[in-house]
Amino acid sequence: MRTHTGFGVEELQRISESFEGKRPEEVLRWAFQTFGNKVGLASSFGGASGAVILDMAAKITSDVNVFYLDTDFLFPETYELIKESSQRYGITPVAYKSDLTPDEQSAKHGAALWSRDPDLCCDLRKVQPNRKAMAGLDAWITGIRRDQNLGRKVVGIVEWDEKFGLVKVNPVAHWGKKEVWDYILANNVPYNALLDQGYKSIGCTYCTSPVGGDADDRDGRWVGTDKTECGLHT
Ligand code: ADX
Repeated sequence: MRTHTGFGVEELQRISESFEGKRPEEVLRWAFQTFGNKVGLASSFGGASGAVILDMAAKITSDVNVFYLDTDFLFPETYELIKESSQRYGITPVAYKSDLTPDEQSAKHGAALWSRDPDLCCDLRKVQPNRKAMAGLDAWITGIRRDQNLGRKVVGIVEWDEKFGLVKVNPVAHWGKKEVWDYILANNVPYNALLDQGYKSIGCTYCTSPVGGDADDRDGRWVGTDKTECGLHT
């Protein structure tokens, strides 16, 4: 199947395989050369991978198109990192929000939707805003990694994103925690302060908790429920 981006799904698979064992910068360079201003970098300004990718991207191109999904429930430390990264890299990350303010959401769906129906809350505050962010793009770049949880074990470095209908580029899919943190320390990359306070993966205040030592990166998300993904990557 040939997609509207000009790439066939199998062709993307072959490209992805060619990047196995290669550095994320090579993947990013390919993405910027191939998609130009039609590629967007999605950063949560929470996780360590996103911080690494942003640093690498800013060293490759001066006009990287960075966006974030502002759920209205992000941590103060996350907004702080957005400010710090903007200054450091000379970028202006674009915020995409839900059509409903938190108050409108409560009026329509009841109070504390995140605790009663977290899937719907994520859909309203992350997945739908991401659809807006994807409009006009041929590709998006994300920080997902195979070692983050079981469900992400098989993600490609480049793949066709069926859900959002564009190419998905995951430059650090094949990297582990160690490579990511080695890069952060070696390059003095700004990262979310909560990562030094027992948090391993950072989303919304209501649904993110600190976790202990050997836990998987995403064990602190939606604790006490079966939910493991917000819906961006399923
Ligand atoms: S997720 O369940 O919240 O999507 P995670 O925090 O592991 O998982 O993030 C994985 C990747 O999804 C991030 O590296 C980023 O590319 C994208 N992402 C997650 N949350 C956001 C957000 N709020 N804004 C932009 N991108 C995001």
